Amino acid sequence: MITSKELRNNWIKFYEGKGHVNIGAVSLIGDGTTGVMFNVAGMQPLMPYLLGKKHPKGTRLCNVQGCVRTVDIDSVGDATHFTFFEMMGNWSLGDYFKKEKTAWSFELLTQVFGFDKDKICSTVFEGNESAPRDEQTASYLKELGIKEENIFYLDKSNNWWELEGTVGTPCGPDNEWFYPRHDNPCCDKCDVNCDCGRYVEIGNDVYMQYKKLEGGKYVELENKNVDTGFGLDRLLLFLNGLDDGYKTDLFADAIARLESASNKAYGTDEQDTKAMRIIADHTRTAVMLIGDINGITPSNTGAGYILRRLLRRAIRYCKNLGIPATEMCEVAKIFIEKVYDEAYPLLVEKEGYILDEINKEIKKFEATLASGMKEFDKIIVGMQRKNAFMKEKDANYVEETEISGKQAFRLYDTFGYPLELTVELANEKGLTVDVEGFNQAFKAHQELSKAQAQSAKGGLTERTETTTNYHTATHIMLAGLRKMFGTGVEQKGSNITEERLRFDFNLDHKMTAEELKELENFVNDVIDKKIDVVRSELPYAKAVEQGAYGVFNAESDEQIVSIYTIDGVDKQICGGPHANNTGDLGRFIIKKEESSASGIRRIKAILQ
Ligand code: ALA
Repeated sequence: MITSKELRNNWIKFYEGKGHVNIGAVSLIGDGTTGVMFNVAGMQPLMPYLLGKKHPKGTRLCNVQGCVRTVDIDSVGDATHFTFFEMMGNWSLGDYFKKEKTAWSFELLTQVFGFDKDKICSTVFEGNESAPRDEQTASYLKELGIKEENIFYLDKSNNWWELEGTVGTPCGPDNEWFYPRHDNPCCDKCDVNCDCGRYVEIGNDVYMQYKKLEGGKYVELENKNVDTGFGLDRLLLFLNGLDDGYKTDLFADAIARLESASNKAYGTDEQDTKAMRIIADHTRTAVMLIGDINGITPSNTGAGYILRRLLRRAIRYCKNLGIPATEMCEVAKIFIEKVYDEAYPLLVEKEGYILDEINKEIKKFEATLASGMKEFDKIIVGMQRKNAFMKEKDANYVEETEISGKQAFRLYDTFGYPLELTVELANEKGLTVDVEGFNQAFKAHQELSKAQAQSAKGGLTERTETTTNYHTATHIMLAGLRKMFGTGVEQKGSNITEERLRFDFNLDHKMTAEELKELENFVNDVIDKKIDVVRSELPYAKAVEQGAYGVFNAESDEQIVSIYTIDGVDKQICGGPHANNTGDLGRFIIKKEESSASGIRRIKAILQ
């Protein structure tokens, strides 16, 4: 048995032995420079250095970095998907390259982890118009003793690594390492390409030597870098011969707590097992996000919205499992005090605060659920009355037993009841829900709001070029304010005329003359850079996940929203319209900064 604490240490020790400096982990919350909301890979905070900037700690670095990926949130509940995980990484910033890296990964796998070299499989990039076939890596692998038949050339979808949805970021072909769980192939063709699950990806070495440009083009970087990522959670379960990530020491105590609270055994009933996994995973991620150095709290926008979704999903699954949602706090305590105390000492310091935030969200959501419950009861009573009344008139009357799609939609829209919750409650009373009708109501509502958005846009197209430019200026200004004072700053009001912009935002102090100058310079700098203002469309949840923010209340995660991106500066959910290029704006001059309400500041500015 190898523990998570041992595995972290092994990784760092091994790479320190190869001349690397442990740079430690940084915040999980993205700093806004890449447009990605959370840190999704160990390389993300190192982006400027991979692009050529000198790192103060040298050219050989390593760490264990927490990452949050919520794209697959709906897959969480199986044995191997997590929304938080740790990436064990090491980097060469223009230092060593393929020869050393293949040798070290091989040494680590065979000497430290005891893998059999004859069973190790490796995949390399087969080449395309952007980059050549990676014969070089393949030849080093062969020299090390990896069997030729265990080396595979695969396409870009498998052996190319880049941060999706970004431009101007480093990327390149990668070399992935695989190992079989057992020696019983499912068929003659059971190799790394087989989806029977026998081969597990252990980690990957990215040869990060390109930069991704707008339109999917790539240019070579001056530096030839290496970016290695081995997922700790996955490797831990593999090294311990397990096939379920919730059985490692990272989760074992949390699951045990949920078992005793529910009086149910993990792994017996499929639904209960799924519930335990979701509660454990989401609580862990919530602990990490709230307890982070740039910690966030649940809200209706941005990262806070994702945190809210995670917590509320976990709360719902507590109900399914039949335990009070406050058990999440007990689970949180286990992560803070027993599992991550050494690697994340800040969590221990912030324990009281973290538990308090989780508790507050539980209370809020339960209040929403309770008011929805009253509505639900009204529906049932209404149905019973009608049935009784009709029966009296007509003994052959067939009783109504279905909650209509409209009623289910109202519970969803007004009280935040997910459809499956309404179905569950209905089933408990021996009733059903018109799911088809719900979907229709949902669609009709979406179309209506799209039409409303169109007409609002219609109104806006009457905007003049001047007011449109002012609107774009508010975006840049807000980006500047968030850069200066943190992403907690949000738009609280905006009023634009032909003559000026007036913009309200939350800030806890009067801005100093220096701060105003800095903001003015920031906006003018972006104007001078002549950056295109690009419009795109995405479902709301996706947009938020990619770092878009804005004053916007989406009806659902799926609602399509429009996003305006000023590359490297800002990404806002907004109806528009906007200037095509920041260069169209002219000089930005702040005329006045004053208080507008408690905690709200107001800036008046002009474009000349
Ligand atoms: N950046 C690579 C990954 O995240 C190492 O897998």
